[in-house]
Amino acid sequence: MKAIGVSIIGCGSAAPKQVMTNDDLSLLVETSDEWIRTRTGIRQRHLATTDSSLSELSAQAAREAIAMAGLTPGDMDLIILATSTADDLFGSAAKVQHLLEAEQAVAFDLTAACSGFVFGLITAAQFIRTGVYKNVLVIGADLLSRWVDWSDRNTCVLFGDGAGAVVCQGIPDHDHLLGFAMYSDGKQHDALNLGYHGTDKGLKEGVTINQGTYQPITMKGRDVYRFAVEKVPEVIEKALFNARLATDDIDWLILHQANQRIIDAVAKRLKIPAQKVIANLDKYGNTSAASIPLALDEAIREGKIQSGDVVATSGFGAGLTWGAAIFRWGV
Ligand code: ACO
Repeated sequence: MKAIGVSIIGCGSAAPKQVMTNDDLSLLVETSDEWIRTRTGIRQRHLATTDSSLSELSAQAAREAIAMAGLTPGDMDLIILATSTADDLFGSAAKVQHLLEAEQAVAFDLTAACSGFVFGLITAAQFIRTGVYKNVLVIGADLLSRWVDWSDRNTCVLFGDGAGAVVCQGIPDHDHLLGFAMYSDGKQHDALNLGYHGTDKGLKEGVTINQGTYQPITMKGRDVYRFAVEKVPEVIEKALFNARLATDDIDWLILHQANQRIIDAVAKRLKIPAQKVIANLDKYGNTSAASIPLALDEAIREGKIQSGDVVATSGFGAGLTWGAAIFRWGV
């Protein structure tokens, strides 16, 4: 039997139409365009309209990816939706399957915050390599605007909404997912949270439950910054080692779009020149699981990334979780 490998053959993305600039934010909280730009590189972010949903934005990105792959939704065998902001806590992937009319596909959510897309891509590859599924849609999507405290200048300036998707396909004798590595460190779970808080409610003598909801994002910004700058170069090196490649073999570096200073510091540590680094967070802010496929899609449609190019991606964030995937784009 021939060995089956992974090819990544289609991508798409979607961002809501509403835009909030740094100047707009300075009317909400005590901040300035200058502070936000110099500390983060962000100029504006797209925010979901009140009548839109994560499922619809995900389906929009997915349709583009499936079309680029030259396939139809009915060809999809599996849909993995990486998100921390599902429309429904039971999961939104099945709703996306329904919106796409991808009737043959099994669909589930995967939650790994800003590492979600990279973890989803690696998960997809396992199903493909074992021959279980041929065509897998991986979506990274988040609507963090729903969960940001819009009166907290420490966090509200950072985040935006978006969705991105890729189609992976099983191919004989080649494997374009060249190497990967993934890590978690739950000791640092309190560095970044969108945590549940509730109050106790007695149901009967001796039976008390707790009910509540999720609370806005909290973040230890400096700790997250230090973690990212230390761990991201390490995990990319580990993935390169697994791929038997050197840093020079990387054509493009696409990191989770959290902060331009993190991107610059990681590229510098890995000695990757600026012209190989893809960044679009100036337009979108930190879109969590969506940020990597959103940047990938833009670079491919602009003709920067060409078929055969080696792309190094790394996601990092709450958990804490972090991971890297090195792949060759296209057929
Ligand atoms: N506007 C103006 N001033 C601000 C703002 C703001 N929006 N936010 C904070 N400040 C103030 C602080 O109150 C503080 O003032 P003080 O010195 O009087 O107390 C001062 O600016 C410095 O604050 P720091 O937090 O120390 O600023 P720092 O230079 O560390 O930058 C930042 C903050 C941008 C958040 C940085 O720490 C960072 O990028 N960290 C990584 C965060 C990140 O990437 N998170 C997401 C990754 S994971 C995921 O995506 C879910």
